[in-house]
Amino acid sequence: MRTGNGIAPPYDPEVTTGAAVEIDDVEVRFRTRKQDVTALREVSLRVEPGEFVAIVGASGCGKSTLLKLVSGLLSPSSGRVRLHGQDVRGPRRDIGYVFQRAALLEWRTARRNILLQAEMRRMPKEGARERADELMAMTGLTGFEDAYPHELSGGMQQRVALCRALLHQPPVLLMDEPFGALDALTREQMNVELRRIWRETGTTVLLVTHSIAEAVYLADRVIVMTPRPGTVAEIIPVALPAERKYGETMAEPEFARATGRIRDLLGAAPGAE
Ligand SMILES: Nc1ncnc2c1ncn2[C@@H]1O[C@H](COP(=O)(O)OP(=O)(O)OP(=O)(O)O)[C@@H](O)[C@H]1O
Ligand SMILES: [Mg+2]
Repeated sequence: MRTGNGIAPPYDPEVTTGAAVEIDDVEVRFRTRKQDVTALREVSLRVEPGEFVAIVGASGCGKSTLLKLVSGLLSPSSGRVRLHGQDVRGPRRDIGYVFQRAALLEWRTARRNILLQAEMRRMPKEGARERADELMAMTGLTGFEDAYPHELSGGMQQRVALCRALLHQPPVLLMDEPFGALDALTREQMNVELRRIWRETGTTVLLVTHSIAEAVYLADRVIVMTPRPGTVAEIIPVALPAERKYGETMAEPEFARATGRIRDLLGAAPGAE
């Protein structure tokens, strides 16, 4: 297990059996007054502990729905969802969630926004504050502990959201287009940081993104989904070395192969993101 800076997930892989996430032949149907929508159909997926998996697919293909299933915010119409071998039967505490918008409370400082997680979970105050400061150091926020959200850049706000999602050491981190609202340069920086943080914490990550390059740079495997009803079109393994350097990695033939294959599957025009 990776334990770089001592911030390790709270589960012991020696004791925990099986996959971190198991989705078995899941279907999700939404009934609205106007129509019935099948968002996901026959989706099966297994994510190993410590793995980084990216999910790409057209808008409306069910990516957010898939993350909601894993978090227990949504139940499947049929099929089974398991986290570390346990059936997901309602909102789970052992996950972290990062959304496209940082969703910080404007009247709370950066540190107190992160500590919100501890308050909601009634974690002991002392340890939580220490861990919040450790995470802020890890994400380059040292010195901004007492800054309010409006005093932080978009990238910094998203780092605060990431710290908040990691405070309780979730073994599984779910990220739904976390960098979609950032400019290209900040987004690159955040990609590099996220990859480093993932390697240091050993957390299992499921990341939804619209950027093919981001998916391939970050992930061990990329799940490509079909348009609605969302099914798994193909799972692309990314055979790039664990040690990745942004520019250099993108110049590797394997990077071109993987992004090319995903682009073909999505039917994207050449030059698309
Ligand atoms: N609560 C809901 N009630 C009814 N329909 C829903 C609900 N949530 C999602 N849907 C429908 O399910 C489908 C999948 O939605 P979802 O949000 O998972 O897509 P997505 O892949 O995340 O799209 P995007 O890339 O635009 O975020 C869409 O057709 C959407 O309208
Ligand atoms: Mg979505």
